[in-house]
Amino acid sequence: MQVLLRVKDLNVSYRGTGASQHDAVQNVSFEIGEGEVLGLMGESGCGKTSIALALLGLLSVEQARVSGSIQFRGEELLAKDARALRAIRGTGISLAFQEPELALSPVMKIRDQVAEVIHAHNDCAWERCRAEAELALARVGFSDVRRICSAYAHQLSGGQRQRVVLAQALACKPALLIADEPAAALDARSQGEILALLGKLQRESRISILLISHAPEVQATLADRLMVMASGRIVEQGPFEQLYRNPSHACTQAMLRTAAPASVAADMDFEMVT
Ligand SMILES: Nc1ncnc2c1ncn2[C@@H]1O[C@H](COP(=O)(O)OP(=O)(O)O)[C@@H](O)[C@H]1O
Ligand SMILES: [Mg+2]
Repeated sequence: MQVLLRVKDLNVSYRGTGASQHDAVQNVSFEIGEGEVLGLMGESGCGKTSIALALLGLLSVEQARVSGSIQFRGEELLAKDARALRAIRGTGISLAFQEPELALSPVMKIRDQVAEVIHAHNDCAWERCRAEAELALARVGFSDVRRICSAYAHQLSGGQRQRVVLAQALACKPALLIADEPAAALDARSQGEILALLGKLQRESRISILLISHAPEVQATLADRLMVMASGRIVEQGPFEQLYRNPSHACTQAMLRTAAPASVAADMDFEMVT
């Protein structure tokens, strides 16, 4: 498998007031192959979103110090300027935000919000971007695309908003999608639908995914490999089944124990660790 993303010794340190700082990510190293789904699991506050923001170059120098190496298709992202990073975001690496409520504008119709993303990354006329936006919305499984296009965010359900955010993230056909807690705010049924959709899109387009979720039952549906984080560090990583069968770190064991054992075990067709 070709390596798409290679992260080495990544550190993210948020600047506080005065000389204080907060080391949110410490010496994190991992790789993601072409077409691979890497699960990133860990308790709230352990640094998952900080990794996502660092990969996308979304942390400003004033906000945080980012060091180490992030190679995407062999190119060092930490050496690139803001303009070059903007070109990679969306078309190379894109992010489906953790909270669709915050990611979507309340005053712009849905089609235009997706069209804006396409417009930002492509040198094409606005009407063409709007037509592309309609296709992008159809790809994430909306059957009533016309209605969704002219709706506002508050007129959609949580699951529909999550689909719109996915449509935005996938609109420019990125090689790597970072899905940050893609279904956390949804009820079980909508969560299942979003995960099934992600799986379908991943199989069809062979996109790579960094799947961020603290929930083992979410990881169980998609992840090929799993990486477990605690307090800013990776404590364990390996093939999904191996970690599931034989978690060596106490954090991994604790996280798996909080899962809904029956459903996960049934899905995975092997015994849960107790
Ligand atoms: N902009 C920021 N400034 C200072 N600290 C931050 C900032 N963003 C996040 N943090 C802190 O960094 C740690 C990791 O946060 P985050 O990456 O959001 O964790 P997770 O996504 O795993 O819940 C937390 O302790 C959080 O409070
Ligand atoms: Mg987070």
